[in-house]
Amino acid sequence: MFDLKKLIRTNINALQPYSSARNEYSSAEGVFLDANENPYGQWNRYPDPYQTALKAELAKQKGINPNQILVGNGSDEIIDLLFRVFCIPGTDKALGFTPSYGMYAVSAAINDVELVTIPLTDSFDLDSEAAIELLKQKPIKLTFICSPNNPSGNAFTQAKIREVVQAAQGIVVLDEAYADFSEQGSWLELLPQFPNLVITQTMSKARGLAAARVGFAFASEEIIAVLNKVKPPYNVSELNQQTVLAALRNEESFAQQLEQIKNEKRKLERELALLPLVRKVYPSNANFLLVEVTDANRLYAQLVERNIIVRNRHKEVPNCIRISIGSATENEILLNALKQIENEESTVY
Ligand SMILES: Cc1ncc(COP(=O)(O)O)c(C=O)c1O
Repeated sequence: MFDLKKLIRTNINALQPYSSARNEYSSAEGVFLDANENPYGQWNRYPDPYQTALKAELAKQKGINPNQILVGNGSDEIIDLLFRVFCIPGTDKALGFTPSYGMYAVSAAINDVELVTIPLTDSFDLDSEAAIELLKQKPIKLTFICSPNNPSGNAFTQAKIREVVQAAQGIVVLDEAYADFSEQGSWLELLPQFPNLVITQTMSKARGLAAARVGFAFASEEIIAVLNKVKPPYNVSELNQQTVLAALRNEESFAQQLEQIKNEKRKLERELALLPLVRKVYPSNANFLLVEVTDANRLYAQLVERNIIVRNRHKEVPNCIRISIGSATENEILLNALKQIENEESTVY
């Protein structure tokens, strides 16, 4: 039987959260002399601490209750909040799969939590058998699954994810930062089946608002309530709440961009595969390609010299670079540069 209270740190269970001025009186009407704001200007008031309008729109679009949504200052803030709510520093353990998104390890380290890791298989699949075994042996408070995974780009099958979520005694965080690009879609409609599941999504990728720093967590009302206790009261600015709300309502532009990025990905994938310096282009359900080349360090430097910046993932996956899908023009510039490098160095490659 899943007991959320037992997973939450005792001090967080006992925490009396800060009650902000806008918590205590939330109507838009009134003479506001309660928050020591400057009475003049357009952005002089504190924002809605619970992002009500934004959540109402998101709830409608995602078919979920607004009380099951947490809005964070990027999903990075949510990852950190999860550690702070569930993991006792120096004592509790979390689980991650490698290679994956680097912030799980960084947030774990900041919070003094050991992140136990299990390698993905050679084809970057989830080793659910190893995970189930480990989850049986060790008390794991948080398990991070990133699907589609960064940096490999593949999405895990529902069956594999389900096995891990069901085996976990603690919370499982399913990071869906790239789910909009994926044929597998989102797990959101399965959320009611799993009281220990937290799904994170972000405005930073398909939605094109990385500058706004807005991410979401979807989970049971009980989990969201405890995350709300710990988040800073005004964690998402009014400017960003308005920007995100407008973007969410602009379905047409979102759909168009998504299609364009997917088409560009297919094109780039085909073109890259033809280059002699490319050994392998991994299949991708995201808006980037993991590409194995002859010498990743060397190629990375050669591209930087030409003002083209890709991500060198050699330390995580030998001789691999990760390439974000750019505009048609940007991708063309990259391909031309790669061809030029090949011509100049044909003897090396
Ligand atoms: C898998 C994954 N999760 C989360 C994030 C961070 O998202 P946000 O911009 O919402 O903090 C990234 C950013 O690269 C990512 O790759």
